[in-house]
Amino acid sequence: MRVVLIAANWKMHKTVAETLDFARALAPLVRDVSDVEIAIAPPFTALAALGAALRGSRVALAAQNAHFEAKGAFTGEISVAMLADVGCTYVILGHSERRALFGETDAFIARKLRAVQAAGLRPILCVGESLAEREAGRTFGVLRAQLEGSLAEAEAARAAELVVAYEPVWAIGTGKTATPELAQEAHAFVRARLADRFGASAQSIRIQYGGSVKPENAAELMAQPDIDGALVGGASLDPLGFSAIIRFRERRAGVSG
Ligand code: PGA
Repeated sequence: MRVVLIAANWKMHKTVAETLDFARALAPLVRDVSDVEIAIAPPFTALAALGAALRGSRVALAAQNAHFEAKGAFTGEISVAMLADVGCTYVILGHSERRALFGETDAFIARKLRAVQAAGLRPILCVGESLAEREAGRTFGVLRAQLEGSLAEAEAARAAELVVAYEPVWAIGTGKTATPELAQEAHAFVRARLADRFGASAQSIRIQYGGSVKPENAAELMAQPDIDGALVGGASLDPLGFSAIIRFRERRAGVSG
């Protein structure tokens, strides 16, 4: 059984004080939730403080990026050992904003993914097609290439710890969510490629959906057989909204009566 993973990707939002306020507000809202894993990826500047605040809680710490080199003259970069040091469990890699705005390639992401795994941390690898690629019928080709390229150096023995986030670029921050059926189709394709690469371990790999996930659509997305959680941007910035996504099962139960 795959445990649902709901992760907040705060991108370039929140100071240290705002981060700690959020953690204090979220704790009582999710204290009784035991069947969902929760993670928060704040900006680098808030990682250490949030790591300390979350110690002993059920909420895991995640980073939004990492560099593959262990140390050295890499101005502006953060190593995986530094992330482990402040208590990170997860590291988001290959987010579409990093690919599109900062020129990250699959080969570059593959090296980071290997470094993250070698440090005993868990990658959340993002893949997803742009609107132009979807309209040109290239969705599956793009997903296949991103998975093959970004997982080229992945350690098969750690495959079950991998998380993949399918995030159609046209759904990120736009308010346009993929329909549950369309998302499921992509997730099933991703799982099949993971099975090609890792065999039976693919059944243990969580595949999150990302792109305008909200309290209103989380339950129907999560009801799909290959959707094992969500990577949430905008709606994760508010503790009430984020906790409502984490508590998606209540909404589903409410809808079905
Ligand atoms: P969004 O972002 O929820 O604001 O669409 C998701 C993401 O980029 O991970």
